[in-house]
Amino acid sequence: MSETIRFSLDGHEVEAQAGETIWQVAKRLGTSIPHLCHRDAHGYRPDGNCRACMVEIKGERVLAPSCRREPTAGMEVSSQSTRAEKSRTLVMELLLADQPAQENAHDPQAEFWKQADLAGVQTSRFPAKQKSVAPDPSHPAMRVNLDACIQCGLCVRACREVQVNDVIGMAYRHDAAKIVFDFDDTMGQSTCVACGECVQACPTGALMPASLMDDTQKRAVTPDRQVDSLCPYCGVGCQVTYEVKDDKIVNAVGRDGPANHNRLCVKGRFGFDYIAHPHRLTKPLVRLDGKAKHADDSVDPANPFTHFREASWEEALDLAARGLKDIRAAQGPRALAGFGSAKGSNEEAYLFQKLVRTGFGSNNVDHCTRLCHASSVAALMEGLSSGAVSAPFEAARDADFIMIIGANPAVNHPVAATFIKNAVRERHVKLVIADPRHQSLSRHAWKHLAFRPGSDVALLNAMLHVVVTEGLCDEAFLRERADHVAVGESLRHPSSRLGVHRRAGVERHRRGPAPGHADAVVPHQRQHRANVDHVGQVGQRQRSGRQQGRRHLRQGRVLRPADADRTLEPVPALDQQLFHAGASRPWLSTMKWYTIGLVNGAARRRLPGRPSREVA
Ligand code: FES
Repeated sequence: MSETIRFSLDGHEVEAQAGETIWQVAKRLGTSIPHLCHRDAHGYRPDGNCRACMVEIKGERVLAPSCRREPTAGMEVSSQSTRAEKSRTLVMELLLADQPAQENAHDPQAEFWKQADLAGVQTSRFPAKQKSVAPDPSHPAMRVNLDACIQCGLCVRACREVQVNDVIGMAYRHDAAKIVFDFDDTMGQSTCVACGECVQACPTGALMPASLMDDTQKRAVTPDRQVDSLCPYCGVGCQVTYEVKDDKIVNAVGRDGPANHNRLCVKGRFGFDYIAHPHRLTKPLVRLDGKAKHADDSVDPANPFTHFREASWEEALDLAARGLKDIRAAQGPRALAGFGSAKGSNEEAYLFQKLVRTGFGSNNVDHCTRLCHASSVAALMEGLSSGAVSAPFEAARDADFIMIIGANPAVNHPVAATFIKNAVRERHVKLVIADPRHQSLSRHAWKHLAFRPGSDVALLNAMLHVVVTEGLCDEAFLRERADHVAVGESLRHPSSRLGVHRRAGVERHRRGPAPGHADAVVPHQRQHRANVDHVGQVGQRQRSGRQQGRRHLRQGRVLRPADADRTLEPVPALDQQLFHAGASRPWLSTMKWYTIGLVNGAARRRLPGRPSREVA
């Protein structure tokens, strides 16, 4: 049960949950305290640098930033004392002095002006600092106008701590201190990935989406409505709010959904212009008579009317239905097939297959997901008995170890990748990336394993083997949750019914005693033994593989007939297999001799005919 803290806020007895700040308690209870460098959103830690949120605490010599300060039992806090209000007003006046006047501001609707109003500040007593900061229009999607920057550091936290892209930082000292991109490059030339998190966080309009601005670097577009929606790109499921002006999307803002917590990537943030693109078809087109399709012919998407004419929906649908009926009548229902889109909803997918099955009379119906997800669904079904993922991306924060193989989330699912980066950055989770290519996430990885392309199955089998044979798995956990785990029998035992040894490609007679046992061999002995095994036992294994499989089947072990009937192939040279499995990489050096046997087995089955590699 979480602990509550009782304290007094503006003369009222209130309660705070453990970890809540004074500002959060005040907000929950309906008291507005100005704030600038604090962003009340998931992933943003309070920084306490602007001092716009000061409150007075009885008995304390100095005022405290309410965005950072947590109450203690019996504390007496005043957010409305003259001293606190004067302090907040002073801060606002100082910041206001360096801003362009609101009517000339880059964004007169920026959060800064709302907070100044909340603090009751419209003008400043202080002279403006002489600044000549040139605008930076170098980025195609964002505009940078640092004359409006108050150095609250929100963009730095957005870039470094929320999205973990490490592009924005503070540089130089004293009066020259400023926000920089990389090594003070322009934003367009920096390594910015255009997630737009900084734009969403900036409270002054120093960073803004280009779609809202004119050439004079001022806001030119004010949306007339907002529409909550879901990002149409990848499958992460980021929630987004579209800002719409005259029925045209002009801006996209991340919304606090379970999958994204306000974050978006470049696609969701800036990739909405296709909706209003002039090439987009919004009316049905019917091919002109006499304009038959030809391989050498091409249609200009800006002017398709050289080949097509506009038609009503009724005419177009009738034409399509007639064409499909003609094919069915002439060639039978099996001449027709339907291929659905992953962009459709479940209901649309259902209707589509209904059309194909009952309308076309054909069972030739499929879905584009088959192309990219069939293998992962099959693996998940076999391993977890469910084709769906078992945890949200945010659960990366609860992990101690994350391994990525066969994926490049920073490119394909950038918002999901941010949660992985958060886990590494905040909790020092160990991240291992197994990928033949270096990917941008590798920068955050504890180890990057650049295995030979095509040897991923051998690699995974090797790791699985080590995990099981060296007792690195939680047997009690497995017994509780997994099928076919023999009770009272060690998973490390060669006759384990888990079946992992089968998948790992290791024959039972190859298994040695558990590490620590008196008969256990040290790594260099394993090397020798593995070589001996490799050279001397190939023939034996080839001869006995089929009989052994059948024997296992008779004894009720988990081997299936397909395994029992498997014919073993000749084993390639030892060094080739090590290379295939990436075992020559330093981090595998301690385990390669443990796993060499199963690498042999796996490589033999999965990598037939791979080219030889010369090993120096
Ligand atoms: Fe609290 Fe800036 S909002 S110090």
